[in-house]
Amino acid sequence: MTNEFKRPDGRKIDELREVEAKVGVVPNADGSAMFRSGKTIAIAAVYGPKKMHPQHQQNPATGQLRCDYTMISFSVSERIRPGKNRRAMEISEITKWALEPVLLLEKYPNQVVDVFIDIIQADAGTRCAGINAASMALAHAGIPMRNLVASVSVGKLDKNLVVDLTKEEEDFEEGEGATDIPVSMTPDGKVTHMQLDGKIRTKELQDVLDMAKTACGKIYEVQKKALKDSINMGGKDE
Ligand code: CDP
Repeated sequence: MTNEFKRPDGRKIDELREVEAKVGVVPNADGSAMFRSGKTIAIAAVYGPKKMHPQHQQNPATGQLRCDYTMISFSVSERIRPGKNRRAMEISEITKWALEPVLLLEKYPNQVVDVFIDIIQADAGTRCAGINAASMALAHAGIPMRNLVASVSVGKLDKNLVVDLTKEEEDFEEGEGATDIPVSMTPDGKVTHMQLDGKIRTKELQDVLDMAKTACGKIYEVQKKALKDSINMGGKDE
């Protein structure tokens, strides 16, 4: 890792984009949140717990989480066709896996918690922004949780590890090219989700996890502050 490496937007290798978070952005939902990282903006709305429909999917042993990730048509310069594509289906499933470990869903047999995530503007890292927003929205909805989950992408540009890649960085092609490793974790460093798009040496993975932990710690503080601010402003009906 070298500190001399210059990122296109001038950030340090371990520097997040400007981060903004707010809860209570969808008044009709049971819980909601917005999370912005640079130009990437995610909104999450939670509905439930409520009876699972269709009924045959009910589980008497536990409640279930359903996640629905959508990149809305104007979120990128090339209009996205509305409706489910494979990428959105994959990210919906990954979001569920990233969040399920912290939820005490066994308290809600036969019920479901629905999380809808809309990406209203995309500049890479949308799955991470969606998970960050969803984690806050679940807490805002009062769903019992062991902890919050924070998510960030650690990447490799040629030989340099950097956090929170922009689309320009994801498209980096020089040297070894770009590698993208989205990681989600609890504040105590328990990884709930990790993906790898590209190539990385096994010995570099520990550095990736260390960088992700520090970055997720910063995101966690922002999430926590947004939740506290909403309580100070009178809860979810602010
Ligand atoms: O957004 P994330 O990094 O989680 O997922 P990705 O599949 O690696 O996509 C990276 C970025 O590519 C997105 O954030 C968008 O900026 C862009 N993208 C796009 O322009 N059009 C698509 N159909 C999908 C992604």
